[in-house]
Amino acid sequence: MDLLIDTANLEGIKRIYDVFPIEGVTTNPSILKQEGKNPLEQLKKIRAFIPHGAQLHVQVISQTAEQIIKEAEFILSELGDNTYIKIPVFNQGIKAMKILSSRGINTTATAIYTPMQGFIAGKAGAKYVAPYVNRLDNIGFDGVDVAKNIHDMLKRHKLETKVLAASFKNTQQVLTLCEYGVEAITAAPDVLEQLINHQITSIAINDFNNDFASLVGEGKTMLDLKKK
Ligand code: G3P
Repeated sequence: MDLLIDTANLEGIKRIYDVFPIEGVTTNPSILKQEGKNPLEQLKKIRAFIPHGAQLHVQVISQTAEQIIKEAEFILSELGDNTYIKIPVFNQGIKAMKILSSRGINTTATAIYTPMQGFIAGKAGAKYVAPYVNRLDNIGFDGVDVAKNIHDMLKRHKLETKVLAASFKNTQQVLTLCEYGVEAITAAPDVLEQLINHQITSIAINDFNNDFASLVGEGKTMLDLKKK
């Protein structure tokens, strides 16, 4: 399962990239607003930092297919290869996905709340469809189940579109979809960091360190045992 970072915060992106195996960054207008900077400049900084070939998902704002296509072309010209054009799943968005994918442009269908939205976006040629797991949970649906259904439907109908599940608030939501085998998830830095944190692990590490220190001395490592 690919892991992406759902933020436009450069410090957060650097912190996660430093440790985690990551395939790219996803953004949306609300995420960009949180940074309070010129969105294009911020996206360029993110592109300059992430490894060559990493995915960068950038959302369009336009409301007609014609304008979405123009906006997509502009985004690609500014942010380069492996930029995925995020398009919400409304009428004109689906039309734009169909046209852009026929031109070989990578699109990510976003703001997905129902399995049929995911399926139609898949038929329109989107590379990824992004169901909003936690937002679904918050309105009384089972976000994980919706993501699973979309994943199954795409497979059953032999569509190549992948699920990029988004909107996570806890590690259990991520774990369940990882076990199920969805192709990708995107989550905020704090959720990604929580994926490996465990108090019992910290206690075990502490015990190992104390035992080694009582054997060879405080602050020593194997390197200190090198023959001089
Ligand atoms: O990528 C979509 C995602 O950003 C929505 O997440 O946390 O606003 O529900 P959230």
